[in-house]
Amino acid sequence: MTITLTINGKDHDVEADPDTPLLYVLRNDLALNAAKFGCGLGQCGACTVIVDEQPVLSCVTPITLLQGKAIMTVEGLGTIDNPGRMQAAFIEEQAAQCGYCIAGMMMAGEALLRRNPDPSDDDIRAALRTNLCRCGTHMRIMAAIRRAARPQSQPMKRTG
Ligand code: FES
Ligand code: FES
Repeated sequence: MTITLTINGKDHDVEADPDTPLLYVLRNDLALNAAKFGCGLGQCGACTVIVDEQPVLSCVTPITLLQGKAIMTVEGLGTIDNPGRMQAAFIEEQAAQCGYCIAGMMMAGEALLRRNPDPSDDDIRAALRTNLCRCGTHMRIMAAIRRAARPQSQPMKRTG
């Protein structure tokens, strides 16, 4: 069956089983490879995208639920030449080690800032509690999201 998905402001006609998880369509059919397959079970957050302003785990979200909704992936945040605020902040804070979790972290952070432009550290921790980083980059990820919210703020003192 054909389903039309609106991703990063552009419509895509997708020929797939309606139960197909969005992550598979992004990566296998549309070459949108930012969102990652981590657990495939809704437990790690590596596949997080934004749907209608809310963070959504694309590995467990069938495309049939997404017709008519606005889907955003990291590719929609900005470009190499013109990175979005979250991408720029992650670069500035060097908030990645292996980088596998980072697309999901950025989308969870972006969804947070859209509903709460000036989050506290506790707000950031709560928003990212379902996003796992096996490299232990959490302090820099926190700093990056703080920087994205307050780009003029002083750089964080780095501890790792
Ligand atoms: S890959 Fe989706 S939550 Fe882990
Ligand atoms: S940077 Fe490696 S999993 Fe987070």
